[in-house]
Amino acid sequence: MSKQRRPLIAGNWKMNGLASSAAPELQELVKLAGNHSQPNCDILICPPATLLDKMVSLAKGSAVKLGGQDCHSNESGAHTGDISAEMLKDTGAEYCIVGHSERRADHGETSTVVQAKAEAALRAGLIAIVCVGETLAEREGDKTLDVISDQVRNSLPDGATAANTVIAYEPVWAIGTGKTPTPLDVAAVHAHIRKELGVLMDDSDAVRVLYGGSVKGSNAAELMAVENVDGALVGGASLKAADFWPIVETSI
Ligand code: PGA
Repeated sequence: MSKQRRPLIAGNWKMNGLASSAAPELQELVKLAGNHSQPNCDILICPPATLLDKMVSLAKGSAVKLGGQDCHSNESGAHTGDISAEMLKDTGAEYCIVGHSERRADHGETSTVVQAKAEAALRAGLIAIVCVGETLAEREGDKTLDVISDQVRNSLPDGATAANTVIAYEPVWAIGTGKTPTPLDVAAVHAHIRKELGVLMDDSDAVRVLYGGSVKGSNAAELMAVENVDGALVGGASLKAADFWPIVETSI
């Protein structure tokens, strides 16, 4: 695939996985990736934080990178149950997802909070994957582009560059539902995001913008072929290496 930007195929395991079941899946993924000495895309798994250390060891020396699913904005302190970006980095993680719609909905995270978390990720030397996306009501109310503009402008970390920041467009109504926007709809939002980034960043042309929401082996090629789509953020279909690999294969 000839893409202007190096694609990133990222798996978000969410709150799934125990060492006993996750280790064989990661080992299988590492084995599949091992058949490609110079992959044309970055491969990432974001497991629960409890598994990061173990998964980093299992993936060592392979093309499979690891990341966190969220971080606190502070480096350390009295925040029971939270995990800092520095702690994620300490495990060997290289990326951190911030502002996933499940965090925005379940934990009331505003774009201001998301921005602080993204800045924490950068401070720790992680690559921030900043998620944005409209709800079904917003789409039906013809508010998609306004919502996306607002989220991109207010969630983008200070100091964002193409090297340290990735945007993931994930329509909330497409997450875990089996529904996806049409390629035309995806193209419209991704073009809009790139236009927004053009105002906010110097190297916006090089920023990777991922699509996420019900990506699977059967629809990945079509979605990855859309202009300005530079990879995928995959939930359910990333849990098993056998399901995730065909998605990676669209870009490797
Ligand atoms: P899904 O989740 O692939 O299961 O729809 C995507 C995500 O939430 O990142």
